Amino acid sequence: MDMDALFKAAWDAAANSYSPYSHFRVGAALLAEDGSVIRGANVENRSYGLTICAERGAVMAAVSQGKKRFSALAIATPDADYPVGPCGACRQVLSEFMDSAAPVRFGGRGGQQVDTTIGALLPHDSLYELGDR
Ligand code: THU
Repeated sequence: MDMDALFKAAWDAAANSYSPYSHFRVGAALLAEDGSVIRGANVENRSYGLTICAERGAVMAAVSQGKKRFSALAIATPDADYPVGPCGACRQVLSEFMDSAAPVRFGGRGGQQVDTTIGALLPHDSLYELGDR
């Protein structure tokens, strides 16, 4: 699967966002090593602080299905004119299951997209040596 198709999956996943507080939909799509795609959407809560980002939702769903290595990630933010990258907490969690060279694409409704890698999003990864790689 190419990054265009993975981004389309992330865009479609944003339709399942539960975001009545921020009205900011996010969709994520992880490409698992077996070729399957696992999607996630942000799930908010009236407590606000218990909100789970789309990216971590996708990781939790995937690992819960026995899929623990991902070769690519796409993130779609259809309510933003500009590409929105993953938050710091998600970068840390994603790095647990992805190689630093793994490609990441993110983009909003404006058409502009950013292509980068997990390693670029989380440079000088502290605790790298403790990872189960
Ligand atoms: N959000 C994500 O799902 N992923 C990100 O990388 C950034 C933020 C969600 C959390 C919240 O539901 C909404 O976007 C606004 O912050």
